[in-house]
Amino acid sequence: ISACLVGSEMCIRDSVYTATGALVIGALFGLLQAYSRADLVSAPAWFDYYRMLTVHGVLMALVFTTFFITGIALFSTYRAIPRERSVAWGWWSFLLMLIGTLMAAVTILSGNATVLYTFYAPLKAHPAFYFGATFLVLGTWMVGYEILENIAWWKRDHRDERVPLVVYCAAVTFIMWFIATLGVVAEMGLLIPWSLGWTSGINVMLTRMFFWYFGHPLVYFWIMGAYLIWYNILPKRYAGHTLSDGLTRLVFLMLLLLSTPVGIHHEFMEPAIASTWKFLHTITTFGVAVPSFMTAFAIFASFELAARARGKRGFIATVTNLPWGDPVFTGPALGMLLFIIGGFGGVVNASYAMDSLVHNTIWIVGHFHVTVGGPVALSFIGAAYWLVPALTGRKLFAPKLALWQTYMWFVGMLIMSIAMHWAGLLGSPRRTSEVTYLGAQAAAAWHPEMIATAIGGTLLYISILMFVIVAVGTRLRNQTEPGLAYTPVEFATPQPGSGTTPPVLDHFGRWAVLAVVLALAAYAGPFTELLSQHAYLAPGLRTW
Ligand code: CU
Repeated sequence: ISACLVGSEMCIRDSVYTATGALVIGALFGLLQAYSRADLVSAPAWFDYYRMLTVHGVLMALVFTTFFITGIALFSTYRAIPRERSVAWGWWSFLLMLIGTLMAAVTILSGNATVLYTFYAPLKAHPAFYFGATFLVLGTWMVGYEILENIAWWKRDHRDERVPLVVYCAAVTFIMWFIATLGVVAEMGLLIPWSLGWTSGINVMLTRMFFWYFGHPLVYFWIMGAYLIWYNILPKRYAGHTLSDGLTRLVFLMLLLLSTPVGIHHEFMEPAIASTWKFLHTITTFGVAVPSFMTAFAIFASFELAARARGKRGFIATVTNLPWGDPVFTGPALGMLLFIIGGFGGVVNASYAMDSLVHNTIWIVGHFHVTVGGPVALSFIGAAYWLVPALTGRKLFAPKLALWQTYMWFVGMLIMSIAMHWAGLLGSPRRTSEVTYLGAQAAAAWHPEMIATAIGGTLLYISILMFVIVAVGTRLRNQTEPGLAYTPVEFATPQPGSGTTPPVLDHFGRWAVLAVVLALAAYAGPFTELLSQHAYLAPGLRTW
């Protein structure tokens, strides 16, 4: 193993540790919000609720997820396509993402960007926040380019072969991401000149539509990262296989095609959008659920086949056959269980009439915590227990602590998210620091749920501290082979006899074109309608 191979992974290791840092800092502010809403502590003077809410959202939803997913996608690509490669590209992309993150974080913490993680206009942040966010995105584009470049290099000697499955998953995820992030880059094209004072006002509706063109596929960027783990890393843990190579590729292609043309389901309550488009995006939203159902089927079928290979039959035997004492398995597996709640809530949110009941309530917050903090974060954390030893050449520190960490997270998230959903049905608002409304009776109804939210949040925070102990402990351990930080890893192989993969699935270019066509078809109408209306240009607001 050459020093070059090891060197090219150092930026990935630092990326994963950066994600861990974002998690532990970002979560602390989340915990304090839960306490503040439960009236358990009076927030300290420095705790400016909305500023800290912005830090929490940006660090958890944008930074933790992005650094982890770029790390694992690059790692999978590097390991599945071993080759002498330049270490520079990975470092430059990591540095660009890091600089962007620091710019955004410092701007928020200094009180100049209290715009929450959706940075909705007409709230106006300091330009450094928008530049920082843009740099973060540009850094991810460099990672996407690196993955595609490695495929192009590999293809030269493997003309008639299918791209290794894990690399395929990473590549399709990043092609989807390229298409989706065009929306946020276009939005920045409006926000940056406005924040610099070059334009007098902003077309609020236009920026929001650009945001959600990006904002929904953003969550699928994370989900695809989790699915990459479920299909390629998880099966080895229970001595199983990926159910089918072709089916996995089809799932990823469907996510590529259907993640973008759905964003208006986040704008159901916006009066400037005709109900036609809201209905269209409702239909496509139910479409994007299909590859997730396929995944649920494929994963459980793979569990069953693994149990049958050991002569075990039936539901109970299949479940007990799984390695419930292995944190690399329990992280993603418990995340899958939480995804059942997330899927149920998602159906409510995507249905226009039911969504109007839960709109702007803490139900929505419960929904995205049980999804981002469920299948996504728990899969990332479980995979980290596999990834960090591979990246550092050290054995996992305190594996039992790692195991209990995943269960603790699961229980904490279950309590917190169910309480949030329930409080939302009672009418408790989101994005509000003080929800007792001076002791109003209606508000007293959801106080027990606020206490439960704080209890769940506390368990989650303890779980995150346990994760940090394992991550730091692993880093500080002696190397298993001093001087050689290279531990071999294995990716899952397809179930024997599951059939061959049609070559057409590997034609990235034409699928990307089809994805763009679908995105244009879904947005041409709403954008045309917006642009044909009179644009009320709003001046910037600083409400803090
Ligand atoms: Cu969405």
